[in-house]
Amino acid sequence: MSFTAHLIYFSPTGTTKKITTSIAKGLGAKRVVDYDTTLPGSSVETDLNDGVAIIGIPVYAGRVPELCLQRMQTITAKGLPCVLVALYGNREYEDALVELRDFATGQGFKVVAAGAFIGEHSYSTHERPIAEGRPDAKDLLLAVQFGQQVATKIEDGNFDTPEIAGNVPYKDRVQFGGVAPETDRDRCTLCGKCAESCPTGVITVTEKVATETDHCIMCCACVKACDVDARPFNHPRIKERRAMLLANCSQPKAPEVFI
Ligand SMILES: Cc1cc2nc3c(=O)[nH]c(=O)nc-3n(C[C@H](O)[C@H](O)[C@H](O)COP(=O)(O)O)c2cc1C
Repeated sequence: MSFTAHLIYFSPTGTTKKITTSIAKGLGAKRVVDYDTTLPGSSVETDLNDGVAIIGIPVYAGRVPELCLQRMQTITAKGLPCVLVALYGNREYEDALVELRDFATGQGFKVVAAGAFIGEHSYSTHERPIAEGRPDAKDLLLAVQFGQQVATKIEDGNFDTPEIAGNVPYKDRVQFGGVAPETDRDRCTLCGKCAESCPTGVITVTEKVATETDHCIMCCACVKACDVDARPFNHPRIKERRAMLLANCSQPKAPEVFI
């Protein structure tokens, strides 16, 4: 198809980005424009008026992370067709997709399809794997096929918004912060990749690594960006959460699409 696909996403550990990219492939867009809103200062102010948008977010406690909404609020449209993606860590996505639908509609997009896909949980470790390695090849293929279905729907001139799973009012927001990954000084090489990957810019690297925990969103970008495993996240709250996820969410879930 001869349109432009606008990829708008927030993706600290990269799984949301992978799925939105595969959907764009399936759409068959001539040109793909990336709006990666993950890092501080990455917001762009733009009003989109041609093509199709794909808006992707990770699910945090069954909701859209507040930071995503802040980073994306400067992107508006005038009725541009849009595909929504909620990436979740194999627990539940709860009200995230309906919240994203309402946000996107408020920004001027016309929601024509939505999908909930699964990605490796931010708290997953090799020892305690939760949806490890997802999205896998099968997930990515499903995302491409979903993109193809959306392209057909648009070509047919059908811009209806489908019914999307989730509740309004949304579940209460959980406040994050106060705890953050730590630095293992014996392993740390002071390379700075943790600071470069942090969406809230709370990590400072000098002769040691300092983390300002109050504004950490616990996304684990720094944990996964570290090549030498020097960012363990083993606060008792996280250990408890990991144990709950392992006990209750080990059965692989399948992506769900609404079109
Ligand atoms: C603070 C926090 C809360 C999360 N809440 C949920 C949740 O409610 N349900 C779920 O299945 N996964 C949850 N996850 C996991 C993420 O949705 C999942 O790892 C996602 O793939 C991350 O996307 P990204 O790779 O684009 O950063 C949570 C992760 C974090 C850091």
